[in-house]
Amino acid sequence: MTQLISIGVYIALAFASFATAAPYSVNDGAKTYEAENAVLSGTSVDTAQTGYTGTGYVTGFDEGTDKITFNVTSDATKLYELTIRAGAIYGDKRTTVVLNNGISSEVFLPAGNTFVDVAAGQVLLNEGANTIDILNNWGWYLIDSITLTPSKPRASHNIDPLPRNPAADSSAKALYGYLLSIYGKKILSGQQELSHADWIGKQTGKTPALVSVDLIDYSPSRVERGTVGTAVEEAITHHNRGGIVSVLWHWNAPAGLYDTEENKWWSGFYTRATDFNLTTALSSTTNTNYTLLIRDIDAIAVQLKRLQSAGVPVLFRPLHEAEGAWFWWGASGPESAKKLYALLYDRLTNHHGVNNLIWVWNSVLPEWYPGDATVDILSADVYAQGNGPMSTQYDQLIKLGQDKKMIAASEVGAAPLPRLLQAYQTHWLWFAVWGDSFIDNPDWNSLENLKEIYNSEYVLTLDKIQGWGA
Ligand SMILES: *[C@@H]1O[C@H](CO)[C@@H](O)[C@H](O)[C@H]1NC(C)=O
Ligand SMILES: *[C@@H]1O[C@H](CO)[C@@H](O)[C@H](O)[C@H]1NC(C)=O
Ligand SMILES: *[C@@H]1O[C@H](CO)[C@@H](O)[C@H](O)[C@H]1NC(C)=O
Repeated sequence: MTQLISIGVYIALAFASFATAAPYSVNDGAKTYEAENAVLSGTSVDTAQTGYTGTGYVTGFDEGTDKITFNVTSDATKLYELTIRAGAIYGDKRTTVVLNNGISSEVFLPAGNTFVDVAAGQVLLNEGANTIDILNNWGWYLIDSITLTPSKPRASHNIDPLPRNPAADSSAKALYGYLLSIYGKKILSGQQELSHADWIGKQTGKTPALVSVDLIDYSPSRVERGTVGTAVEEAITHHNRGGIVSVLWHWNAPAGLYDTEENKWWSGFYTRATDFNLTTALSSTTNTNYTLLIRDIDAIAVQLKRLQSAGVPVLFRPLHEAEGAWFWWGASGPESAKKLYALLYDRLTNHHGVNNLIWVWNSVLPEWYPGDATVDILSADVYAQGNGPMSTQYDQLIKLGQDKKMIAASEVGAAPLPRLLQAYQTHWLWFAVWGDSFIDNPDWNSLENLKEIYNSEYVLTLDKIQGWGA
């Protein structure tokens, strides 16, 4: 069942919608553009930090509108690898790259005391003149240069043939097998929340294949304040109409909620809203807070078992965005987050016998990765405008999983345009757009783009996946 797709197929896929594109030429060299020669807006050239190339670097990213514009040229419509030589000397940063005033992508710049080359995904350049903007985003970093190297066709995937849990039930195995059969060939359309999925159906005539729901309101520290979850019912509804279900969990901290005017109890999954300390809680299996973690996992097990009993396989994405540290499960660093993931995996599968889960990990950084043995699918949450292919994160995840894991865009602000996905060879298995203020917001998703996406041959919608489990 291991998936091997020939390079020929990749090239055909990549150029399916670009009849004018020239074939790849492996002889084309890399081209570097120095930031100090680019068009600067609100930014300036400096030489104080050593290690730059050319005659200096660009600094002064301290206001929202600050940017650098590189004028770059290509001899043909062609895909290039973009590398940014940057210095994140004040700590981890995120920058935004915009191609030809359209597609934007977010690039993580790891903290370091000098300039390093950061892989920033691909850019599909037009024949002739193009612009690449580096915008402020988090600001406070130095840009030395960018380099464009013509892309080579993506190598064949080599995906694990089965889910990692040896006791995975038949529904989970059927789902995994189906996903494997489409990976690299199609993308599943997806949406956060059933109500938004139905809204898409009305707007575009097509309903998403996948619906993502949130276990947030089953968190015991919310239930004790009166919440009543409906995610399980919504998941079953979507399953019963032939759809695929993904589940995440904004885990309201078990204890230590500030519950102040600024940080209400219901925002208790945010680091800023609780003093619950994961490292301390995990330091012994007898302390009160460890016991509370177990209490919460057991409460979630009850809900997952309801799905299991209803025959619903689940793409389960716990502890999402841990590396951002804005959620309490990420605030104590990678070692504690990985320990919690291991506890969750062990408790759910071995103790509770929850075997309808496909385990989806959701961080791009190697030091956060729980390891191949307990992860089935890798994913990233990407919020960048322009309906682009998000190739930066896709490439990071290919590296992280050594191409043995399928890769999903588990939360996005902007749904990716299929013609770009194909041109960039970014084989996301699914995309799921976040709900309020994203799917229904033209700044992120115009109706025109949604119609194009939902009616594309490359995009699997609910009607097209009927009988997938058969
Ligand atoms: C970059 O391109 C724009 C538009 O073609 C042009 O106006 C500008 O002068 C160019 N700047 C540089 C530094 O090449
Ligand atoms: C458990 O967590 C709460 C909330 O953060 C904290 O106040 C308490 O001291 C912790 N208890 C132990 C034994 O660490
Ligand atoms: C948790 O407690 C440890 C040990 O006291 C401390 O070093 C760490 O900074 C705390 N983590 C958070 C997120 O407050």
